[in-house]
Amino acid sequence: MRVPFIAANWKMFKTVHEGVVFVKEFRSMVKDISDVEIVVAPPFTAVHAVAEAARNSVVGVAGQDVHWEREGAFTGAISAGMLREAGAEYVIIGHSERRRLFGDTDETVNRKLVAALGSRLTPIVCIGETLEERERGETLAVLDRQIKAGLDSLTGEQVASLVLAYEPVWAIGTGRNATPLEAGEAHGHIRNRLRQWFGAPAADHCHVIYGGSVKPDNIHEIVVHPDVDGALVGGASLEVRAFFDIVARSRQSTV
Ligand code: 13P
Repeated sequence: MRVPFIAANWKMFKTVHEGVVFVKEFRSMVKDISDVEIVVAPPFTAVHAVAEAARNSVVGVAGQDVHWEREGAFTGAISAGMLREAGAEYVIIGHSERRRLFGDTDETVNRKLVAALGSRLTPIVCIGETLEERERGETLAVLDRQIKAGLDSLTGEQVASLVLAYEPVWAIGTGRNATPLEAGEAHGHIRNRLRQWFGAPAADHCHVIYGGSVKPDNIHEIVVHPDVDGALVGGASLEVRAFFDIVARSRQSTV
């Protein structure tokens, strides 16, 4: 049984102070929620302070990216061990903005993933097609390529511990979320591939979450599909009430 997994990707928003204020308020709002895994991903500068503010709460903290090396001459980069030491327990890897703007590839995603697992960070690995790829009918082939190359050499046990985020690029920040049918089709396909390539326990345990224009008023129709295990939320996670509503409505029992 997979509990819903809801993560806030704050991208390049929120100062240290703003992140801490958010979490101090948010942690008391969610203190009685034990059936949703909740994560916030602040910018690197705020990871430590936000993790301190979230200590002994149900809120976990993620980095938004990681380098694959342990240390070295990599100006601007952060290692998995550094993130872990700063208080993160999760890390987002291969977000489409990193792929499009910063040169991440399936190969670097794979290296980052291996590094994250080696430092006991839970990876939240992003995959998803562009609008052009969808229009050319290539959605499932793109997902296959991203899963095969991104998760290359991982064991079934490692895959079981992952969070895979299906984020169709055309749905990110556009206000146009995937319909439940579109999301369901992609998620069902991803789950089948995980079963085929990594075995049933991996497919049954891995969280496959959806990202792209998730809001309080569409979260329920999205997570109602049995293969959609939660959401990675951008814009709507910046406001504490909206993010709380998304968490609350992701629980089947509340609707
Ligand atoms: P929006 O929720 O703003 O569409 O962003 C989604 C996203 O990129 C989460 O990682």
